[in-house]
Amino acid sequence: MEKVKLKAKILKKEVIKVFKKFGLSQDHAKISANALINAELVGAYGHGLSRLKMYCDRISKKVINPKPKIKIKNISQSISHIDANNSIGFVAADIAIKKAIRNARKTGIGLVAVKNSGHYGLSGYYAEQAVKKNLATMIYTNAPPAIAPHGALKSLFGTNPICFGAPVGKKVPFILDTSIAMINRGKIRVAERNKTSIPEGVALDKHGKPTTDAKKALQGVQLPIASFRGSGLAWMVDILSGVLTGGNHAGRVKDPFEDFTGPQNIGHLFITIKTNLFVKDYKLRIKDNIKRVKSLPKIKGVKEIMYPGENKYKRFKSNSKKEIYISNTVKKDFKILNN
Ligand SMILES: NC(=O)c1ccc[n+]([C@@H]2O[C@H](COP(=O)([O-])OP(=O)(O)OC[C@H]3O[C@@H](n4cnc5c(N)ncnc54)[C@H](O)[C@@H]3O)[C@@H](O)[C@H]2O)c1
Repeated sequence: MEKVKLKAKILKKEVIKVFKKFGLSQDHAKISANALINAELVGAYGHGLSRLKMYCDRISKKVINPKPKIKIKNISQSISHIDANNSIGFVAADIAIKKAIRNARKTGIGLVAVKNSGHYGLSGYYAEQAVKKNLATMIYTNAPPAIAPHGALKSLFGTNPICFGAPVGKKVPFILDTSIAMINRGKIRVAERNKTSIPEGVALDKHGKPTTDAKKALQGVQLPIASFRGSGLAWMVDILSGVLTGGNHAGRVKDPFEDFTGPQNIGHLFITIKTNLFVKDYKLRIKDNIKRVKSLPKIKGVKEIMYPGENKYKRFKSNSKKEIYISNTVKKDFKILNN
């Protein structure tokens, strides 16, 4: 098959067309397409087009609701609880972060919990929205079992990303957005589909032996960052985004690619905070903070000490000038979905 590359704008239209064909409204299709194309542009391919068919398959099997009746309950001016009615995760997260931003602007802090949602892609994509409105933010979501709790023989926690964003007075937002797995599951899935190997030290096969075979890794367990500390962080995220919100938790989130027996009922938690709540000179303080870190002497070979988010922003900038590469597997998916 020949290599195909398309401009982001054209590709977005194609993705919107597909989502609409599967029953999403124009608005929801656009929100979802924007999130998928953004993942491609920041280089998070495991959360981009490689998932389009999975979302559509879940809609066809009636485990994602293309026409959700999303309910927002305001508990106070700061706190809201959203029942996403099994919408595609992008839409639930888009509504939630916008609500969290509004709540924080009114009262100083926004706290929005979401239940009955699905996989929403990159936490940092939503964090960016809050940071652009000059808010600090923390975002949590749980995910299907991939990681064995410390000491356990079986996966239970998801790769449960931890995300923190803060305005730094520059165009490039500070966004720490990290899964608690050595590598994220999306990357292993892409390796499995493209029949490439995964790095050493990130996964064990189903017999508990280290493996670089993506398929065996998906059947086995992924390793958390920093041993029991990573396992503890995954657990924390499961409590914050699952137990607290009314979402599934403790290993009950279904694998979106393999388990079509029901909706995922993923939970998310969005926290947004005004930066001038306790100090009047936040802008000066954060600039000083970044400057002090960046001016440290560097290890040989390191050109620049970067803050989290800088690398992704650079990738986004450079990829935005280029066309997006469509892998053969994604090309096949488009063909099936457009039939
Ligand atoms: N929705 C889900 O279920 C789910 C699950 C897991 C992961 N994810 C998403 O997958 C994405 C990828 O996660 P990941 O753990 O592979 O990210 P990663 O390892 O690429 O990066 C983690 C963090 O480290 C920062 N970083 C990277 N290199 C750096 C450097 N040299 N100096 C300073 N900071 C640096 C990045 O900016 C980022 O904030 C995230 O956006 C996450 O939200 C989603």
